Amino acid sequence: MSLIPQDFIQELLGRTDIVEVVGRSVQLKKAGTNHKGLCPFHSEKSPSFTVSSSKQFYHCFGCGAHGTAIGFLMDHLGLTFPDAVRELASQAGMTVPEAPQDPQQAQHVREQRSLKQSLQDVLEQANRFYRDQLRDSKRAVSYLKGRGLSGPIAGHFGLGYAPDDWQGLARVFPNYEADPLVQAGLVVARDDQGETIEPGALEGQAVTRRYDRLRDRITFPIRNTQGELIGFGGRILDQGEPKYLNSPETLLFHKGEELYGLFEGRAAIQRQGYALVVEGYLDVIALAQHGVGNAVATLGTACTAEHVKKLFRHCGQIVFSFDGDTAGQKAAVRALEAALPALGDERSVKFLFLPPEHDPDTFVREHGADAFEREVGRAQPLSVFLLDTLGSGLAMSTAEGRAQAIARARPLLALLPDSALKSQILGEFAKRVEMPLAELRPALALPERHAGTGKATRQENERRPERRSSMATQRASRLAGLRTDHAQTAMRILLAQPELWSTLSSSQHELLMQDGSSTQALASWLEAQLDAYPDLSASALWEGLRLAGLLDQVQSMGAADGLDAEPASVQQDLMGALRWVELERIRQRQEELSRDGLIDEASRAEFRSLLSRRRELG
Ligand code: UTP
Ligand code: MN
Repeated sequence: MSLIPQDFIQELLGRTDIVEVVGRSVQLKKAGTNHKGLCPFHSEKSPSFTVSSSKQFYHCFGCGAHGTAIGFLMDHLGLTFPDAVRELASQAGMTVPEAPQDPQQAQHVREQRSLKQSLQDVLEQANRFYRDQLRDSKRAVSYLKGRGLSGPIAGHFGLGYAPDDWQGLARVFPNYEADPLVQAGLVVARDDQGETIEPGALEGQAVTRRYDRLRDRITFPIRNTQGELIGFGGRILDQGEPKYLNSPETLLFHKGEELYGLFEGRAAIQRQGYALVVEGYLDVIALAQHGVGNAVATLGTACTAEHVKKLFRHCGQIVFSFDGDTAGQKAAVRALEAALPALGDERSVKFLFLPPEHDPDTFVREHGADAFEREVGRAQPLSVFLLDTLGSGLAMSTAEGRAQAIARARPLLALLPDSALKSQILGEFAKRVEMPLAELRPALALPERHAGTGKATRQENERRPERRSSMATQRASRLAGLRTDHAQTAMRILLAQPELWSTLSSSQHELLMQDGSSTQALASWLEAQLDAYPDLSASALWEGLRLAGLLDQVQSMGAADGLDAEPASVQQDLMGALRWVELERIRQRQEELSRDGLIDEASRAEFRSLLSRRRELG
């Protein structure tokens, strides 16, 4: 939970002009009541990026990028939430209040902030040392030369050399025992049992031995998107184990989120419109050496959904490059899973498989950049790779094989958001498994845990097997976007126009907050927010959703779409949606009552009153 109070965010957004904030980075032209420009989040030739000063939101009709002035500073400049708030506050001449209600927590935050700063300081100092050492080491320089790298490229990536010395860093850190050296991952600490102490668990531990993590290695500084140094990779010169050694997880460094080369390659990625994801540090650097500057690498881990999301903030297309061997194939499937949730019609992913004997480094050195670009041009679209993967190794000419393919497809396709692309893939898959689309959709229903139905419903289904298939059908069509979830429609409208909440009756509130409904958590949260801050604006609400960890859910509901409309015109839609929700509830309750036989007068009375309410609703 953030320490910045919601009403401060509200006031800050109220005093900020989003047109001015965005206008510093994007050339905007007035178009009607809005401003328009070329979207900074994907490459485009005609402007589909709009900024509304009345709503205080930006929105891109091309890539779906959407947010407030705070969100813009986060997504475009890569600031953290508190930094974005602080930046806007200083522009507006406001001071961010430290939450007085919890001094302990505020103290903790301050300590973490200053610890981070000191870790960054020691990393920078070590980096300068490593770079100086490279200049003095003929062996290291000739290693890099031998790999075809020039001085300027080594300089661009800040390459260095960690000398062959157990405590080489003692030369720049007179206090070699200082905790930040361990906490930053530069120095390994061992306890009296000889066990390594994790950088994050150092406090209160007795350290008996300390030594440099990187020795006799080429060093690769790893920066976050803001350019801050967060860790190092180190490659052994010549032969040795392990070939690469990376910084451990620290307060600054999280492998699952960071990409090597993203900071250095940002401009090239935006210019080219796509990012190339490769497996190794030296693949990134060798490509840059040959003029292919838009490559990034995961840090010795599989590609995560977090990585993919991060890259899509910079461009609309990702090309994954994998070695042509089985390990590469496996890594490609992991990348596929990571990419599916982020896909849409404006975002695409491709898979490039190099010949088995090559990685991008050796390929570009042997065949040159043009040949490499040609390979990129021939990369498999995600749809092709996905469909091949679903059928791979299965006897698709048999019913058994095709059934297995459907089972394999179920969890994967559930990850893919509704889009034209999804419909296309489903259509193609239906042909391959020789099943009509109308039958395939229910067969591909989301697994139970994703269905969002409560436990009670599940038990109820078990008691009444005849309903099970119809529930599955409903779930499947909801998945395919055929059946509108009216409660979500209502919720979307309310999030865009929070002032409408107070125009609803308490029974309408209840409809949205009812147990097991898809909007229960969101609606309860909204009610609590509006209780505390009755005049909450839509943009402040949006930031509140971020703080509550609900923003992703809301964005996947398409809530951003409703922000353009005027309250009066959507009030009708809201009432209409709520009417459908209520009708559905009545129908369910009546079904329940008649199933139980309507044996007592109370249930018969309830049934009658539901009937008359249903007539009222028309
Ligand atoms: P590779 O083993 O494919 O090596 O590791 P490479 O990139 O081709 O390296 P060169 O060309 O021999 O120098 C790919 C990536 O996997 C991680 C590193 O991030 C490396 O860049 N890795 C590899 C490790 O973390 N540790 C290792 O021991 C090996
Ligand atoms: Mn290599």
